[in-house]
Amino acid sequence: MITIKDEREIELIRHACMLVSLMHKYLKPFIKPGVTTKELDKLAEYFIVKNNGVPSCKGYEGFPCTLCTSVNDTVVHGIPDNTKLKKGDIITIDVVIGYKGYQGDAAWTYAVGSVSDEKRYLMEHTKKALLEGIKQVKVGNRVGDISSAIETYARSHNLGIVKELCGHGIGTEMHEDPEIPNYGTPGSGPRLKPGMVICIEPMLNFGGKDDIYLEDNGWGVRTLDGNPAAHYEHTVLVTKDGYEILTPRLDD
Ligand code: MF3
Ligand code: CO
Repeated sequence: MITIKDEREIELIRHACMLVSLMHKYLKPFIKPGVTTKELDKLAEYFIVKNNGVPSCKGYEGFPCTLCTSVNDTVVHGIPDNTKLKKGDIITIDVVIGYKGYQGDAAWTYAVGSVSDEKRYLMEHTKKALLEGIKQVKVGNRVGDISSAIETYARSHNLGIVKELCGHGIGTEMHEDPEIPNYGTPGSGPRLKPGMVICIEPMLNFGGKDDIYLEDNGWGVRTLDGNPAAHYEHTVLVTKDGYEILTPRLDD
């Protein structure tokens, strides 16, 4: 069921989302060679709790940590551990924060020191694919318009789409209807209405299809060919005249 949020709910989601943006900004200076993903996770948890938020991933279906830290060929849901980041890595930090029962969600891929041109290309165009998807958020459009814009952008830049994973609605739950696939047909799917809150999150790589596998820990999703993947996600409110990005980037 797709829910339409009222003003009070939107204010709480807005607050949760602001904590998400502030947490990314807080964490960015620590994303350097030598830091472990577990250290980043501890910093994130400290920041969230200090600001009266709830680290919603921790304990969600048994996920053990505050952040998903997905390095290089990990697409999503990497579990923080004692691995040190190295110059040339890319890492996606994905976080969901709760505030008074409402959730905000955003993922951004960061470069650790300077990275290869290939990784830079992947990051730049995954971010742009997200923005192309967001541009389709307007009343009267459908979910398929978002999906198709992302797919068209990714394909025209020779990037592969991780089709098994998709965006979602958000509210009191981190995952609500509708699903927002990163591929699809214009004019198809549910219609966008003011007061809907959705997470749009392209996950792109250099592969074709059937190109991921699940790690033995049951969480980390990685590319089969070992090539890197990038992932950018914003929580977006559908407004009567377009959209509002509730998780603006404060860090670049
Ligand atoms: N942003 C992620 C998602 O939308 C967060 C889920 S991670 C989990 O899938 F650990 F909480 F499952
Ligand atoms: Co999400």
